[in-house]
Amino acid sequence: MATWLTDEFVERVRSESDLVSVISTYVPLKRKGKQFWGCCPFHNEKTPSFAVTPDKGFFYCFGCHAGGDVFKFISMIESLSYREAIVFQAEKLNIPLPERQRTPEEIAREEKLKKLREAHELAGKFFHNCLTMTKYGTAGLEYFHHRGINDNIIEEFNLGFAPDAWDKLTTAFAKRGIDTELLLESGLVVKRQKGQGEYDRFRNRVMIPIMDERGRVCGFGGRVIDNGNPKYLNSPETILFNKRRLLFGLDKAHRAISQEGFALVVEGYMDVISVAAAGIKNVVASLGTAFTIDQCKKLLRYAPAIYFCYDSDNAGQEAIARAIGIAAGTSAIVKVVQLPDCKDPDEYIRKHGVEDFRKVVSQAVSVVEFRLRHVMAHSDVSGLEGRLKALSEMLPILATIKNAAERSAYVSKVAQLLSVSENDILVELGKKSRWSVNQPSSGRAVRSVVRQVDDAGRRAGRVIIRMVWDEPAILDHFISLVPMESVPDEIHKRILEALMEKYRAGEKISDIMGLAHLGDEAVEELSRAVVEDLGEEDRSILYEACVRQLRRNYLVSQYEVHSKNAEELYRQGDAKYLEELAASQKIKHEMDELQGVN
Ligand code: CTP
Ligand code: MN
Repeated sequence: MATWLTDEFVERVRSESDLVSVISTYVPLKRKGKQFWGCCPFHNEKTPSFAVTPDKGFFYCFGCHAGGDVFKFISMIESLSYREAIVFQAEKLNIPLPERQRTPEEIAREEKLKKLREAHELAGKFFHNCLTMTKYGTAGLEYFHHRGINDNIIEEFNLGFAPDAWDKLTTAFAKRGIDTELLLESGLVVKRQKGQGEYDRFRNRVMIPIMDERGRVCGFGGRVIDNGNPKYLNSPETILFNKRRLLFGLDKAHRAISQEGFALVVEGYMDVISVAAAGIKNVVASLGTAFTIDQCKKLLRYAPAIYFCYDSDNAGQEAIARAIGIAAGTSAIVKVVQLPDCKDPDEYIRKHGVEDFRKVVSQAVSVVEFRLRHVMAHSDVSGLEGRLKALSEMLPILATIKNAAERSAYVSKVAQLLSVSENDILVELGKKSRWSVNQPSSGRAVRSVVRQVDDAGRRAGRVIIRMVWDEPAILDHFISLVPMESVPDEIHKRILEALMEKYRAGEKISDIMGLAHLGDEAVEELSRAVVEDLGEEDRSILYEACVRQLRRNYLVSQYEVHSKNAEELYRQGDAKYLEELAASQKIKHEMDELQGVN
């Protein structure tokens, strides 16, 4: 959907979107004069610092500095891209998306997708019927029953069986006139190496259909019913079957994920089936591949938290460590469920029952706890060297803890574990700049409260931006006194330059996303400028004071330049130093005058 969202369409969606009612569906807001205030949904707070200014179409949080327009809000709260947010809102408002010419390639692709879907749907029925209605299925039924999977679960997950033969599916599908090329592409059948024809990819395996969120079959996992190899055979990657995006079980789990407030992510198909069969429905698996950012974002649409419950072996624990790294780039509240004595959730439930399993889930530990334990598990802390190495791995973990009380609790815990003094740990943590905390890269990030250094120069810059936003023509006056390149704050400079460009081109500047290329920080700062209350002061007095402030900054830098030049020239015996000196004196004079005003 890259380029077809016309400006006209975007403006229509924007103008039909009521910023306050959009935000109110997520955040309770209270009116205060021209603004609305609430508790920011992007960071934790108890007193409102989140402001919405409907007449300007902006929101801004004075705590975490999130800010932007209605689409920015939707994109942040729904973990969508800005463009996706526009489409999301258009669909909510029943505004038809702009018609556009589809290319022949796109039409062909959609046609192909449709056919692949039909073939998979049919294959799902075929395997299910084999399992439940034919003699071929007996071995599969036995296998499932033996694992405690009863007929209800078989129906619920549409489980099936691929007969122990070479061409049952191939023949059945050929009879129905399904195109061989399509079947080859779907991976349901494979070309014979020798001779003509095709054969079934899945044979003598219990079949687990993998659905997308909407319950449409996209691929299969087939498990051997003995000790054969490979244990699982999966559909190949196709335009339908994207392992990085799909999550096994999500079609059945998403409602429960919303209700419970978290998704339980396990490793295996059988884990999902067992856990769901035991009545815990908010469970999905990440298809035997590493947990991906796409999967993470998908889950965040349903709930803010993700609990990982992977196999307790080394590979499982390493996979959790990687998954945590992926989720760190998003707002996900991550916890880890650790199984004390079993390989995986399926085994745990069979051995201890579901109530016990619920208990271990409720005892899920935080990421910090998990990571510290993880370091301990692969460290040898019997000697000093090993303890120091473990400490060096733990320090960056401790440095991520924002809450002071929590941090000191963990510091004393680590001190005890490694027999080092708490004080030494605190000293090392003090050199904090060495530890780079994972920066959220995408997704709906949990923001932290940032106390920005907000000196007079910065405040003045923001007031100027606000006034330019309201009345672009003042730019001419402003830059006659404060050259753009001397605006002290880099971000302010970027914003003002962009506004200048629009103003010069005679364009309207009511659309901040026209400025999105300036980066998040600029969008946030601009939102702040527009939302911030300027107080009761007379606008022109305020403007003059701010210009004076910035002019003074400019003069100080100019004064330095000229004095340095003068000094240099004087040392070289160049008489031009007198000119430089005069220039610096002139500036000094203006500075003194300005000083007098305040
Ligand atoms: N997997 C796979 N191919 C394999 C092995 C595993 O795709 N050859 C994927 C499957 O999605 C599987 C998951 O990795 O469900 C976890 O693998 P494993 O722990 O070995 O399987 P279990 O889920 O425990 O399967 P089972 O209980 O049936 O032995
Ligand atoms: Mn298992």
